[in-house]
Amino acid sequence: MCGIVGYIGTKKACPILLAGLNRLEYRGYDSAGISTIEKKGLSLMKDKGRVKNLSNLDGINELEGTIGIAHTRWATHGVPSKENSHPHQDNSKTFSVVHNGIIENYNELRKFLTENGYTFYSQTDTEVIPNLIHYYFTKDEKNDKQKYLRAVKNACMDLKGSFAIEVISSLYTDNMIVVRKDSPLVIGTCEDEKYLSSDIPAILSYTRNFYLLNDFEFALLTRNNIEFFDKNLDKINKKVQNIEWNSSSAEKDGYDDFMLKEIYEQPKAIRETIGSRINLNSKCEFEELNLTKEYLQNLNKIYIVACGTAMHAGLSGKNTIEKLCRIPVEVDIASEFRYRNPILDEKTLCIFISQSGETADTIAALKLSKEQGSKTIAITNVIGSSITREADYSIYTHAGPEIAVASTKAYTSQVILINILAIYFAEVLEKKDKDILNKLKSDILDLPKKIEETLTCNNQIKNFAKQIYQEKDIFFLGRGIDETVSKEGSLKLKEISYIHSESYAAGELKHGPIALIENGITVISILTDKDLIKKTISNIQEVITRGAKTLVITNQKLDNDMFNVVINIPDTNQFVSPILSIIPLQLLAYYISKEKGLDVDKPRNLAKSVTVE
Ligand code: F6R
Repeated sequence: MCGIVGYIGTKKACPILLAGLNRLEYRGYDSAGISTIEKKGLSLMKDKGRVKNLSNLDGINELEGTIGIAHTRWATHGVPSKENSHPHQDNSKTFSVVHNGIIENYNELRKFLTENGYTFYSQTDTEVIPNLIHYYFTKDEKNDKQKYLRAVKNACMDLKGSFAIEVISSLYTDNMIVVRKDSPLVIGTCEDEKYLSSDIPAILSYTRNFYLLNDFEFALLTRNNIEFFDKNLDKINKKVQNIEWNSSSAEKDGYDDFMLKEIYEQPKAIRETIGSRINLNSKCEFEELNLTKEYLQNLNKIYIVACGTAMHAGLSGKNTIEKLCRIPVEVDIASEFRYRNPILDEKTLCIFISQSGETADTIAALKLSKEQGSKTIAITNVIGSSITREADYSIYTHAGPEIAVASTKAYTSQVILINILAIYFAEVLEKKDKDILNKLKSDILDLPKKIEETLTCNNQIKNFAKQIYQEKDIFFLGRGIDETVSKEGSLKLKEISYIHSESYAAGELKHGPIALIENGITVISILTDKDLIKKTISNIQEVITRGAKTLVITNQKLDNDMFNVVINIPDTNQFVSPILSIIPLQLLAYYISKEKGLDVDKPRNLAKSVTVE
């Protein structure tokens, strides 16, 4: 939700900021703006629309400043408009601020500032921040070195909610101040340049050395130096972290869209996720975890909590953990879990899945579980993300940066990781026959090759997309593990093609939804669960009788004449079948979106990382 970029160095800031915004546009794209420190004071250029719009504004190429901040917005408070775009300035135009997050008490602060003579020009929550900084700055009678920092700090201590903030000032022409709470912000460092961003990939082409800020840590930057302070403004030391991702992973590399690239990156991503965690003749290794047999034996329940696609990955984790370990698993949507007073104690283990590691609801659900005495494990893709700072244990998918808003490789890598975790639990518990676990492990090791084979359905899917891209409603069916995939397939389609779609457990169909099936409607079914295939086929038969057009994804030999299109995928272990069966559905959503001429990577109303409730 919103992306922020910053630069302080020796080069012109504007082109660097615009390049950063372009790379960060997947976080929000309804308006964009920049502010730089110029000889005459602070520049401010912003407008609604995409970053391209901003790049074309008159005068933008004349900006000379070597320090600047920039923002791409996903509107929360106030419609997309020039006034509501960031950066925002205080009334005297001394401070420019960009902000990602939500200020929950902005109404009170606005009232307070209005009573103190400030005027507001936007409907945003953010505009209170520069004015509050100005308020504290002018009230402060001490004129020492820390005056600027103190004003920013005092303003931040009044804010309730979440924020990552960058501040520049016309009075401090060699500095920038940044701070975060519950919203992401990283600082990339080179000798005499510092790059700031909401996400690492946006600045990966400049450096691989990053500082990751914790909540309420302030950084005072100059070109050659960074000083870190805690909320009492006492100096703290922070270690620089080296990030392994390479910069080409944040580029399209010849693909038309990031989504297609990321679909095709899945064999590699899965290899990375498996890493050295699976060994055929020894136990699975998670050096990050130290859960004992006694602890796992005493568990009453495991919760898997996440949002959207990550929650769908959790559903496949439930299937494997319950079958291998016989521990009850409940999968919950984070935004529901956190408010439904879940039954938690030291006998519940809570697993949180989040690609970005920044999803507000998932993090809040994790905090709640910890407070109530449960152990917490975070599964995430982003090293140092907020969730990893909260969880008792963090395990990484290592899928590489995912830029397209619609999640693909992150999903399959989450599915594989939670399956490996289930094997690890089963081995610690000594619950399952070694041969069964070894068979599953060897099937997991074969997956990257089988994903490559599955991807050869590309043309078949492309042709099917041409036939159905104008449809208004599409249904997805599956049973057991296939139902979890049909949910994910349906979500993918909605997100990027804007076609209404529903996913149903095939057996539920005749309890209501079959009333919607009429002549010519498309029904997509996943058939990989050998024990349930016959049952699902009976349900498909019911929709065929009512005139439905059917696409079937299967790893079994079927009577192909029964269906309009059959996509054959390689057979694999039932537990990990979602990793293969989702691929045709990812491609289908992609090609339908392309046929409709939509922006695949940046679907309307969505943003990559949902850092607000
Ligand atoms: C869909 C999608 C979203 C995310 C959800 C959680 O393609 O990407 O449904 O899965 O917003 O995001 P993370 O995993 O970052 O917590």
